[in-house]
Amino acid sequence: MQHQGDATPADGRLPAPALAAVGSRPFGIYLHVPFCVTRCGYCDFTTYTATELGTDPGATLDTWADAALAELDLARRVLGTAVPVTSVFLGGGTPSLLDPRDLGRVLAGIAERFGLEAGAEVSSEANPESATPEWLAGARAAGVNRLSLGMQSARPHVLAVLDRVHTPGRVATAVADARAAGFANLSLDLIYGTPSESLSDWDASLDAALALRPDHVSAYALIVEPGTRLAARIARGEVPGPDDDLMAAMYERADDRLEAAGLGWYELSSWARDEHVRSRHNQLYWADADWWGVGPGAHSHVRGVRWWNVKHPATWAQRLAAGASPAAEREVLDEPTRRLERIMLGLRTRVGAERGDIEAAIGERAAEELAALEAQGFLAPADASSGRVRLTRRGRLLATAVTLRLT
Ligand SMILES: C[S@@+](CC[C@H](N)C(=O)[O-])C[C@H]1O[C@@H](n2cnc3c(N)ncnc32)[C@H](O)[C@@H]1O
Ligand code: SF4
Repeated sequence: MQHQGDATPADGRLPAPALAAVGSRPFGIYLHVPFCVTRCGYCDFTTYTATELGTDPGATLDTWADAALAELDLARRVLGTAVPVTSVFLGGGTPSLLDPRDLGRVLAGIAERFGLEAGAEVSSEANPESATPEWLAGARAAGVNRLSLGMQSARPHVLAVLDRVHTPGRVATAVADARAAGFANLSLDLIYGTPSESLSDWDASLDAALALRPDHVSAYALIVEPGTRLAARIARGEVPGPDDDLMAAMYERADDRLEAAGLGWYELSSWARDEHVRSRHNQLYWADADWWGVGPGAHSHVRGVRWWNVKHPATWAQRLAAGASPAAEREVLDEPTRRLERIMLGLRTRVGAERGDIEAAIGERAAEELAALEAQGFLAPADASSGRVRLTRRGRLLATAVTLRLT
């Protein structure tokens, strides 16, 4: 996403039309926990290690929760009303480094300021290394009811290229401990296409993941992010770059294996045992709903107004301590831009994109493109009324190219 927007008002206030719509659609809260023990060589998320941070206020694990509560105060002030929250997602970074008591304080803070809808999904990401039995029990007691564990791979040489420090068997132990702590909704994150990973390595990772009987799997194609250690190693020729044909074969293998195990795809990189365990919070992003992102670098969206916070934890905390918004910049999207985003996001999902949106976006070309893509087997009606179209598996393999033809 490009980070070039307009200035935000110091108090973070939103335009009246956006405010008027708040509460008419699902509303989620994302909490960004920007701390990791070490940085994995492929990752460019907003996250910092202790040595990078020092001891500035708000820049440490211990002070994160108070600054997060201050941002929740600001959110409540800006929105002007207690909008019941339909989902909460703790992401990072590494939320499993947080003291569960702090996690509990922040979740209670959301309930006090906004109210949590009955049955709201409260997800947390966790790194298998820090998801100890104590942390898992504490998080569950604090109200977390969905867990997403960063497994990535079961093959030691693949984990080594990813710079992941996992003790062998750690993921299986974390899964057993999570079940024992009462997590009925458990997801595993996998990455495929790591340099040196073969199709049989990927098969072994899928075997290992499926043996743990997850309710949900996210399988991501490795993205070589500019500026990461991995990108530098590829540039120096130390490890090979991505191989598109192998990536496509790995995607097909994942889809076959996960579907055969009873996990159905519902988004390009997401498979779930049934619709109740699809990530409700992520679906909110894909459905262009509203959410407030709390934390350094977190993104928010309310009815076409999108903003993102300053990245450094200390700057974020200092702004909040001064009673100001931590937003760096924002964009107010016009209707044609929102329509394009609805098409792009809709096409990522099983729900699909509206034919009407596609017709409005590309005009006369729409009928011809839709018919051609359906005839070529890339696209199919998503529902009985044919009001929406979705990618077939062939289409999912070429999602970017298909989307370009429809936007
Ligand atoms: C914030 S992490 C999950 C929690 C924890 N930090 C961990 O890594 O175990 C979110 C997920 O993003 C995925 N991810 C991060 N960088 C990626 C990249 N460059 N390409 C593909 N997936 C990536 C990984 O699968 C990771 O599990
Ligand atoms: S992948 Fe997870 S553990 Fe690794 S640096 Fe990124 S956020 Fe931290």
